[in-house]
Parts: sequence; structure tokens; C-alpha cells
Amino acid sequence: MMPEILRKSLILWVPSVIALAAMVALGDLAIFMGIIASCITLAGTIAMVNLILPNITYIKEYWAAEKIGDANVTSRITNAATIDLCRTIDQIKRPQKETKNEKYEHPEILNKALSYLPYPLLIFDSQRYVTQANQAAIELLGPNIRGADLSASLRHPDVLEAADTVLEGKRNNLIEFELSNTIQHTYAGHIIHLGGTHGDSLAMVVLHDLTAIRRAEKMRADFVANASHELRTPLTALLGFIETLQGPAKRDASARERFLPIMHQQATRMVRVVDDLLSLSRIEMHEHAVPTQHVNIKTAIETVIGSIEVEAAAKEVIFKIAIPEGLSIVVGDKHELDQVFQNLLDNALKYGHQKSTIQITATKAMLDGKDAVTLAIKDEGEGISSEHLPRLTERFYRADTARSRTLGGTGLGLAIVKHIVNHHRGLLAVESIVGKGSIFKVTLLLAAEVANESF
Ligand SMILES: Nc1ncnc2c1ncn2[C@@H]1O[C@H](COP(=O)(O)OP(=O)(O)O)[C@@H](O)[C@H]1O
Ligand SMILES: [Mg+2]
Repeated sequence: MMPEILRKSLILWVPSVIALAAMVALGDLAIFMGIIASCITLAGTIAMVNLILPNITYIKEYWAAEKIGDANVTSRITNAATIDLCRTIDQIKRPQKETKNEKYEHPEILNKALSYLPYPLLIFDSQRYVTQANQAAIELLGPNIRGADLSASLRHPDVLEAADTVLEGKRNNLIEFELSNTIQHTYAGHIIHLGGTHGDSLAMVVLHDLTAIRRAEKMRADFVANASHELRTPLTALLGFIETLQGPAKRDASARERFLPIMHQQATRMVRVVDDLLSLSRIEMHEHAVPTQHVNIKTAIETVIGSIEVEAAAKEVIFKIAIPEGLSIVVGDKHELDQVFQNLLDNALKYGHQKSTIQITATKAMLDGKDAVTLAIKDEGEGISSEHLPRLTERFYRADTARSRTLGGTGLGLAIVKHIVNHHRGLLAVESIVGKGSIFKVTLLLAAEVANESF
């Protein structure tokens, strides 16, 4: 800044120096006085230029700044007159900016936005002929909807009646209806009057797919109903026994002897249901954090077998484990994988035949291009018929409800297994032949260093 100030000052100083030199030459001013006067005028000029020049630079920057009232520039301005000037610049620049925005308000842009809108949108005239349809509508209802009657694409009496009402200009309408192109879907249809009068009007319908929301609502309602039912059944039995023991069988020692074990069994069943429900909600809570521990599945399975060996011995069931060294360490959550093996081995034993064998085999697999292990638990039981297989992992779903209840099942075991396997980003598969038995397969990622060492 300094050389610039000096240069400008020297230029402005020149006329006064010429005037003083002329006065000295004409003898009107002594040389010494002339020199002093020149120095004073130079100092004065530098001071003035120093005051004005930075403000001119700020104003230049302010004008060039992209934003109106750019804080980077305004924060450096202290001179009141310059601030006033900047305000005037704001007023000049503002309309320019607004004119710039006009190019974004072109109808083309709106058309483009509507065509890419992820919700199906159809515009139809007063004869109910579709005049325009966006991409999402064409994908949902087919390429021939334009130019056809609305009833050809949205064949639902409620939609057509609502469309007619809107076209008559009565009021906009929001309806919920079901369409079944390939599978049944629930939609909300917003039908809106766009303009025109009776006989010459336009309206549009925008569809919003509610299927997932309605399904989730139904699942939640079913779940609450099922959970209440599961708890109510043993609770009713318990209340019945308590009333009998308080009333008619008050002093009947033999009745007490008979009832207490059943009451204990019913209470245990309730505890099991509550424990399983809590397990499910805990897994759901941590669903987003992928497990990272190294878990030895061979040891985990042996521990579970140890915990059910009394029941196995009573049924004369034997376990055969074939898990090679290199396939025994997986990436997972120890506690959750214990639950998986507990539930699957428990089922194999519960639904397996007397004097049968349960085989647990590990084979190498791939999961998303990474080394994995598939653990198969094969029983020789009654099997599960194919119509039940897709629903087996739903909460409280049982292939044979009465049998599951007698065996102390909650109907939540496989739902827990499925959730845990999903949490591990693994795979769960079931194969079964009625009368022969079932195979439950769980695929999990092998721990990387172990996989590298072994293969
Ligand atoms: N190994 C199996 N063999 C035959 N049926 C099975 C087997 N495992 C599960 N099932 C069926 O799947 C249903 C759901 O299993 P699960 O969720 O563990 O509930 P439960 O508490 O009844 O064992 C069971 O009720 C049973 O009908
Ligand atoms: Mg079970």
C-alpha cells in the first residue's frame, strides 16, 4: 500500500510544487521558504491520500464481492462516508441479483422437477383423459397411460369418484385405496384441482405408496396382540389355580401338591416369553453396530450341548460335531451367537425324534466376497412342511402351535436367530423334508487372520 500511496501523493503534489517554483523564480518567495512550503504541501498530500485511498480500495472490493453486504469487506470499513456509499452499492446490486434468479424460474425447470419427482403424478382433463404423466407414474402404471381414460390406469371406484368430484371444482380430495398390479399396494392419492371451470378443467393426482407404513402398523398391532395373548394364557391358568387354592382347595394338601408344579411351569413360561421379548428388543437396539469380536463357534456349541445334555440323554439323542480348526473362529458377538446356537440346538432336540442324531457341520463359504463358514444343524425329526418355511422367523409363528406350547416354546426363538444373523450381516437358510428332518444353516464371516492362516 505504501508505494502506491507515495506514487499517488507525488502526482497530486506536482501542481503545488510548480506553483511554488514559479513564485521563487519570479522573486515572490525566498528559496528557503519555497522549500519549506513544498515539504508542508507534500506532507499534507500524503496524509490526504493515506485517508482516502484505502476506502477507495474497500469500495472496489465491495462492488466486486459476490454477496451483497459481504462481511469480509464490511468488517474492515470504519469510515462513515464509505459505509454510506456501500449501502448505496447494495441498493444498486440487489435488483441485478434478482434479475439473475429469473433464469431459474423458467417453466422448463418445474417440468423437469415434476418428471423426476419420485411420486407418480398424473394430470387429467375434465373428460378424465390423462394429459401428462411423470416418469414415476409411467414406471408404475405402464407407458400407455397418456391419452387414455384415468380409469385405465387407476381402476378403483373411489379414485374415479374422487377425481370427478375434484373436476366439478367441489374440493380437493385425499383418498386411500389399494391397487394390485403384481402385488397388493396401498396408496394415498392426493387429487388436486389445477384450474379451469366445469367442462374445461384440469386436475392432478399424486400417489404416495403407504404399503410399508401400513404393513409396519399391522405388524406392530399383531405383535402387541400376540405378546398379550402369550402372556395372558399362563396368567389366566395361574389365576385359576390361585383362586382354587384360596377357595375350594384351601385345605387340600394333595391339590396343592398337584397344582404347584403346574403353576411353576406356567410362571416359567411367562418368564421365558418376557426374556425372549427383552432379547429381541436388545438386539434391535444394537442393530446398527456390526459386531467385531472373535468368537470360537466350536467352543460355543460344545457349551450349549453341555447345558442340554440331561434332556438329550433322556431322549437318547446324540450330537456329532464336525467343525475343522480353520473354520471355528468367526467375527461376531459372543453373547448373541450363544443365543443362536442355544435356540437352534434346542429346537433340533425338541423337534427331533427319540434316539436320533443331531449333526453339526461346518463348511467353507463366501459372504460378499469374503471367507465365511456355513454351520449346518441337521436333525432327524418330523420336519417342517414347505408352506411354513417362509414365515418361520416371524415373531410367535409356529408350525405346530400346540406342540410348541407343550414343549415350552415361546415361538420367538427363530425370530431372535434371524435378527442376530442379520445383525452379523450373515445368512440364515432352512431346508426340511417332512418326516425326515430339518437343516438350519447359518453363514457367518470368518475372522480374517484365522482365514488367511488356514487357507
Ligand atoms: N428343528 C425343527 N424341526 C421342526 N420344526 C421346527 C424346528 N425348529 C423350529 N421348528 C418350528 O418352527 C417354529 C418356530 O420355532 P421357534 O421360533 O424356535 O419357536 P418355539 O419356541 O416354538 O421353538 C416351532 O414352533 C416349530 O413349529
Ligand atoms: Mg425354539
